[in-house]
Amino acid sequence: MTDDRHEFGSSETERKLDCLRKYLAAYSIALKNKNLSRIYIDAFAGTGSRTETRAVLPFMGQGEEALVEVSTPGSARIALETQPPFHHVLLIEKDARRAAVLERLLKTYPDSRAHVRQGDANQIVQHVCKRYHWHEERIRGVVFLDPYGMEVSWSTVEAIANTQALDCWYFFPLSGLYRNAPKDQNKLDQSKIDALNRVFGTSSWMTDWYKTDLQEDLFGEFKADMRRTYDVNRIEEWVAGRLREVFKGGVLKPMRLHHPGGAPMASLFFAVANPNPAAAKLAKDIAGHILKVGI
Ligand SMILES: C[S@@+](CC[C@H](N)C(=O)[O-])C[C@H]1O[C@@H](n2cnc3c(N)ncnc32)[C@H](O)[C@@H]1O
Repeated sequence: MTDDRHEFGSSETERKLDCLRKYLAAYSIALKNKNLSRIYIDAFAGTGSRTETRAVLPFMGQGEEALVEVSTPGSARIALETQPPFHHVLLIEKDARRAAVLERLLKTYPDSRAHVRQGDANQIVQHVCKRYHWHEERIRGVVFLDPYGMEVSWSTVEAIANTQALDCWYFFPLSGLYRNAPKDQNKLDQSKIDALNRVFGTSSWMTDWYKTDLQEDLFGEFKADMRRTYDVNRIEEWVAGRLREVFKGGVLKPMRLHHPGGAPMASLFFAVANPNPAAAKLAKDIAGHILKVGI
């Protein structure tokens, strides 16, 4: 027997997947009569399902509460079930076991034009973005970037934006940023700096987020420390600004998701690569409606 389980996320994960589900459905309907090929690219596809452990109340309040495992659709299944269907679905997954589960899943959708690529999302997405002549070949699509942490490199974000044809949902890891950008700049080591530079494609975050802070010690002496002055709200705005530099169709205010204890976990961004005002407006109208409804 194979292990198809994939436990990830929290109760907030459903909010994120619901945004994707609603967008893919509205997108497919909006484009269906436009003589365009629609592609969906799931860069961090997982297994297609999400395993959740839920507490079940005993029958008629008798006996002990039981825990049961439930499998709900993950992003890949949501995309495969979208109607009208995408002309092409590309599922990328680095982990061999999960990629094999995806292969088996595709057998249950024999009519879909979908395939699995096992490997690194950064390499594969960049390759795919450069391979197609998106506008000449009349291809449009949606990319979902749903990493666990800071796995998406800026060159991937840029490649998506440069297609001028893809809409991008990016589950941006705020927790990862905190871990890599401590308040005290002395605690920033080279591996943290490298991780942030890779995610943002620039080191300007350091000069923007950190400022000199003069602290008076017990003897009245002043000591200059570099401290991060940007809190989570300003960091989120900074990230939106960075995305706006490359996504010419615009970037919406994201939806914030939280850890069970209430700490910010991630921001779900929606960005449009197509600079055409009518196309960008259509995409942002749909996603804007969904993000507001989801908040
Ligand atoms: C949060 S899960 C994705 C969940 C999925 N979107 C869903 O809704 O079911 C992140 C996935 O990315 C995969 N992953 C991590 N690093 C990767 C990389 N560099 N390239 C491709 N996949 C990667 C992990 O194995 C994991 O399955």
